[in-house]
Order: sequence, then structure tokens, then C-alpha cells
Amino acid sequence: MEQYIIRGGNPLVGEVEISGAKNAALGILAAAIMTDDTVQIENLPNVRDINVLLEAMESIGVEVERLSSHSVRMNSAHIGEVSVDYEYIKKIRASYYLIGALLGKYKRAKVPLPGGCNIGSRPIDLHLKGFKLLGAKVTIRNGFIIAEAEHLHSAHIFLDTVSVGATINIMMAAAMAEGYTVIENCAREPHVVDVANFLNSMGANIKGAGTDVIRIRGVQKLHGTEYPIIPDQIEAGTFMFAAAATKGDVMVKNVIPKHLEATTAKLLEIGCEVEEFDNAVRVVASKRLGSTNVKTLPYPGYPTDMQPQIGVTLALAKGTSIVTESIFENRFKYMDELARMGANVRVEGNTAIITGVEKLEGARVSAPDLRAGAALVIAALAAEGISTIDDIVYIQRGYEEFEEKLKSLGAEIERVNSEKEAQKFILRIS
Ligand code: EPZ
Repeated sequence: MEQYIIRGGNPLVGEVEISGAKNAALGILAAAIMTDDTVQIENLPNVRDINVLLEAMESIGVEVERLSSHSVRMNSAHIGEVSVDYEYIKKIRASYYLIGALLGKYKRAKVPLPGGCNIGSRPIDLHLKGFKLLGAKVTIRNGFIIAEAEHLHSAHIFLDTVSVGATINIMMAAAMAEGYTVIENCAREPHVVDVANFLNSMGANIKGAGTDVIRIRGVQKLHGTEYPIIPDQIEAGTFMFAAAATKGDVMVKNVIPKHLEATTAKLLEIGCEVEEFDNAVRVVASKRLGSTNVKTLPYPGYPTDMQPQIGVTLALAKGTSIVTESIFENRFKYMDELARMGANVRVEGNTAIITGVEKLEGARVSAPDLRAGAALVIAALAAEGISTIDDIVYIQRGYEEFEEKLKSLGAEIERVNSEKEAQKFILRIS
């Protein structure tokens, strides 16, 4: 089982390049099957979730040509069937984007129901509600979602909860429905906008992405395109907090500062210096940081995917902070691991009360999910002594070359996959 071995205490200093946005790429790759022309996608992040989705697409007949680790050319003219195997949806929930894409193009789709997830139950009732309102018959049989329609027609859809996945999935199906569809109470995340821009580059007619009302005039056909994915604002924010927690000085490059506003505001509030450039931000933390209160909200509010990263940083801040997780019901599991490093934290329902301590101590901890795993790496980098992090496969799902990028900033971190390798590295750094 692969682990990270980390010796904390070094401030992170230097420059780091951010990769393409995983959550934009997952929607865009699925949407790419909606044309029979060839599509080329650039700036793909080379992470496990993307590679698994590409395998799932190949399994239904999409021709995938990897041009490099960050670009791919695809052709979906010969999709043999519209049923995606369970093994793929088990590996990544976002395979469910294939429902909206297949339904939009072929008016039928058969995809396994996504299971639960480490951070919450994550139902997809709103996705299915949207498909039904567009005219699809949706049934669930033997663990599969089967959606089919004679034809898809216009609809006026109100999403009960702001949902990134439902917004993207319904937008894809509506892009090739007849008539004029309005989706209200939409998610406004940058990756929703990126998927809409991608579909429009294929000839779709989508307006309002990035606001809470998206208006779509369906089209009969979509054509090929070449498209670069936007930078990953969550990867960027993760490195911004790594700089803050280790009292470092990091230039985070290849970002869109506007997408980072909530993160930047919080870093400034707790005492960091943050300097914005056209496509970079510089984070400097020279003194012990202060406490703050934060509540996760849909974009442009403070992102839930950045909640563990601020949580571990506040564990070292001066004073008491309150973190409220309003999106998912089980996103504080990392707090138990943090307590094992000496943090003074208490979780009550969807709120964590964090009383800052002077220092954290290295310990053996386990990554409970993707973002919490990355946050525990930040905690280990800020802690004194040596930490071992188990279950880092979660982290590799969404962070490209995570340890290499951290090493380039001065972190003492090694990925090992045996006790022997771990011992060797520990001896070397002790
Ligand atoms: C996307 O998940 C992201 N994943 C998540 O990032 C992110 O945390 C989340 O959006 C919120 O920003 C991808 O984009 C692949 P939601 P998604 O639908 O679409 C409820 C990461 O770390 N809901 O916006 O699944 C849901 O339970 C991952 O990269 C329903 O009730 O999130 C949640 O409470 C983790 N019914 C809330 O809405 C539905 O039909 C927001 O979920 C759909 C969602």
C-alpha cells in the first residue's frame, strides 16, 4: 500500500505550476462524445480519475488517442453501446456524466447507479429529475439507471439544491433537446462554466453559465472542437494553504485569480500576504496566523473542497476558529487524524471547533478522502518530526505529481510502497 513519508518543519518556498481542473475535465470528456467529429482536449490533468473516465469511454467504443499526458484526441462516431460497466462507476462517480451526454446524443443511456462516497451519501435525484422533465423515461433496475426518450423536449427545471453534477448533467442532455430549456438555481462553479463553454465551442447554444439561471436552445448536431481545460482552482488553493501553514513563500502559477477569491479572502483574513498577478498568485506567511470562522457554500462562497485545507491550517493558528460544512454531511473525518498530531479540535455535527496549538507533531495518519488526504499532507509538512500517511491513492485521484511539486518547493516527502523503503527514507532524513 503506497504511503507518503514526510518530515515537517520546512517552509515551502518557490514556484509551482497548477494542472488542468479535474472537475472541469470530467464533464468535458463526457460531453466530447456528443459529436461524431473528432475532439481534441488540451491541459488535461494527468490524474487517476481522468484516466479511469477515458477507459470507461473506450469501453463503450470511443476512439481515444493520447497525444501526451495532458492532451487527448477522441472520436465517438462508433459508440457501440450506451451501457457503462459498474467497475468504472465504482472507481469514479463522475462516470455518471455519461448519462447526460449519451441521453442527449442517442436519447438513451444505461449507467450504474453511483455508490455512496466517503464524504456523504451524494444522491443524484436532481440529475434524474432533470432528465425526466426533458422527456426521458428513467428507471432504476438491477443497480443501473436506464434513461431513454423518443425525443427530448424543452423544460423549465428548478434545482431544489445547488448541485454541480446535476447542473452539468442536465445541461448536456438539454444541449441536444428540442426547444428552449431553462435551468434555475444552477451551480456557478468555474468548471460548470468551462463545460458550457466547451459545449458552445461544439456548436451548442448555452447562455448564463456562471449565473444561477442557464438558458439552452437545443441543437440537432454538435461538431468537433479543440479545447483547453481551465486551471484547477482547488489544486491551486491547496498549494496556497500549504504555503500558509508552513510559513512559506510560494508563487502559484497558471491560475485564474478570480476563481480563488474566497480562498484569497480567508488567507488575507488570517494574516497571510497574497499578491495577485494575471495568471498567478503569491502567498507569503511570515508569522503565526490568526483564527477565523468559515462556512462552506456553493461558488462563489468558500468551497467545500477547500474545507480540510483551511481546517488543518487553523489548527496551528492563534485563537479558536469555527468551521461549518454546509454541503456534505461527512467531511470532518480528517479531524480525528489531526487530533493524533496534537491538534485541539472538536466536531459537533457539521461544525468543527478548532483551538489553535503552537505545534503539531508528526504521526502516522490515514487519508480518508481526496481533499482531506491533501490537507493531512499540509499538516504533516507543518508538523515537527516525521509523519506517515496511508491510503494516498485517494490523493492521486485529483493531484498530479503531488509529491514532486511539493519537493520542488523544499518539502521533505517521499512516496514509498513498502516498510523497507519507508525505513530507508526515514534513516536518510533523520
Ligand atoms: C462536485 O461533486 C465535485 N465533484 C466535488 O468535488 C465537489 O465537492 C462538489 O461538486 C461541490 O462543489 C466533481 O465535480 C466530480 P453537488 P457533486 O452535486 O457534483 C446534494 C472533489 O474533491 N445533491 O454539487 O457530486 C449533494 O448530496 C470532489 O473534487 C442532491 O441532494 O456535488 C450535496 O449535499 C469531492 N441531489 C450537494 O447537493 C443531487 O441530485 C452538492 O452536491 C445532487 C446533489
